[in-house]
Amino acid sequence: MQYKVIIPAAGSGSRMGAGFNKLFIKIMNSPIIELTLKVFGEDERCTEIILPIKESENQFFETLNLPNFIKQKITFVKGGSERQESVYNGLDSIKDSESLVLVHDGARPFVTNSVINRILSEMEEHEAVICAVPMKDTIKKVVNQEVVETIDRSTLWGVQTPQAFTYKCLLEAHQKATQAGYLGTDDASLVEWNGSKVFVVNGDYNNIKVTTKEDLFFAETIYEQYRG
Ligand code: C5P
Repeated sequence: MQYKVIIPAAGSGSRMGAGFNKLFIKIMNSPIIELTLKVFGEDERCTEIILPIKESENQFFETLNLPNFIKQKITFVKGGSERQESVYNGLDSIKDSESLVLVHDGARPFVTNSVINRILSEMEEHEAVICAVPMKDTIKKVVNQEVVETIDRSTLWGVQTPQAFTYKCLLEAHQKATQAGYLGTDDASLVEWNGSKVFVVNGDYNNIKVTTKEDLFFAETIYEQYRG
């Protein structure tokens, strides 16, 4: 099953506090985004990688150390001020309306082929499939440092990317959300909001989104385990 992947990479990474795009941070000598691009670049089923980036960072992305067969798969598009806008710009560049589209955070370099396989396999029967892991912690809703609710953990999942959609399903959700001013923190939330069903498969606890400085330590450990 062939697919295209949109990898939003135009964030500023303010929670990392690095003062520059966190995707440029190196894990064992490789920028985070380079590791992410290799996973999809090396997957033969991936026919195109659409990369929304900030225009001002174009030079960095052009000089990534990637083999030519991966570079040839990459289409650069303009990033937006929000992640959602970056993904929408990526979708806008797709001309084949029969495409299967994956969306994957540039900051998740440890996605495995097993996770991608599980998602693609379910996409044979669904129009939207995401991966997630059961929550380990107890989750409470807190307002002004006071607990207002403890949510039943057995129904809670931590959602990751990749998330897969038929092009038509994702485009309609993005178009309607943009018109209505609805902003979601992932693409599936737009699809849910638009009334479509979203199917869940098991993700991987190592498929972390490198977000804060503490994550860099975990990222190096995971990297060593996977590729060391
Ligand atoms: O900030 P966060 O880690 O949640 O962002 C997830 C992904 O979305 C990152 O890969 C980031 O580069 C991307 N992003 C984007 N455009 C934005 C904000 C975030 O492409 N305006």
